[in-house]
Amino acid sequence: MSDDWSARQYLKFEDERTRPPRDLLAQVPLQSPRRVVDLGCGPGNSTELLIERYPQAEVIGLDSSPDMLRQARERLPGRPFVAGDIATWNPDERTDLLFANAVFQWVPDHPTVLRRLLERLPQGGVLAVQMPDNTTEPALALMRETASAGPWAAPLAKAAAARDDLPTTGAYYDLLRPLCTRLDIWHTVYNHVMAGPQGIVEWFKGSALRPFLSPLDDEMRSGFVADFMARIARAYPARFDGKVLLRFPRLFILAVR
Ligand SMILES: C[S@@+](CC[C@H](N)C(=O)[O-])C[C@H]1O[C@@H](n2cnc3c(N)ncnc32)[C@H](O)[C@@H]1O
Repeated sequence: MSDDWSARQYLKFEDERTRPPRDLLAQVPLQSPRRVVDLGCGPGNSTELLIERYPQAEVIGLDSSPDMLRQARERLPGRPFVAGDIATWNPDERTDLLFANAVFQWVPDHPTVLRRLLERLPQGGVLAVQMPDNTTEPALALMRETASAGPWAAPLAKAAAARDDLPTTGAYYDLLRPLCTRLDIWHTVYNHVMAGPQGIVEWFKGSALRPFLSPLDDEMRSGFVADFMARIARAYPARFDGKVLLRFPRLFILAVR
């Protein structure tokens, strides 16, 4: 399995995954930004929202994954999508909106990067960020538990550390507020209806499971998935209609320079 992101797997739950960027964009106070950059644009689902909202703006998607960029270019032909790493990338002076849905949780030392990017925005510019705040949810705890309890424990020793808990809201406030005229931080907890435990496993194969599955060969990977699935089935009981609810807390940050 390649370490690249799979656009196809990610988009299996496109409606659910596109709801947080809709909710985030609804709070962006800009009327007519000149340049908008979708950081970690993925397959272009969040970029499409930005183009709909700001048809006059120059909207650019940036991502580090070739598969995601290919998918985004197919989805939105003629639009600029560029390869880049958020850890080192900088906006140019015409950039009025940096939009980052579901990406900063993967960027090492992301608070420092958020601060640097915010510093580079012009007066009135906006940094809008959403990250899953779910590392203590059962599904993620069970990923780590599965990783440490099987024949795959050695190759996965580093995977469990791939995502830290997010800093507290207070820490983000202290870090970013000195650079802002307005800072709004909030949480939303979604409850996604999944067809069954299999749905939860499929959901995370497109995101948080990637660091656990990519180091394994086919046989180990099947064993890992079966073990994880059994744990998920115990932790997420079926509702009256056989469906399961995937509780999903997310953190939103809206910073106006
Ligand atoms: C979960 S997807 C989010 C896709 C889309 N923004 C959305 O709203 O659904 C995360 C994306 O961030 C990209 N990514 C992760 N780390 C990155 C980095 N350091 N620089 C640029 N892109 C990165 C991944 O390739 C992936 O496409």
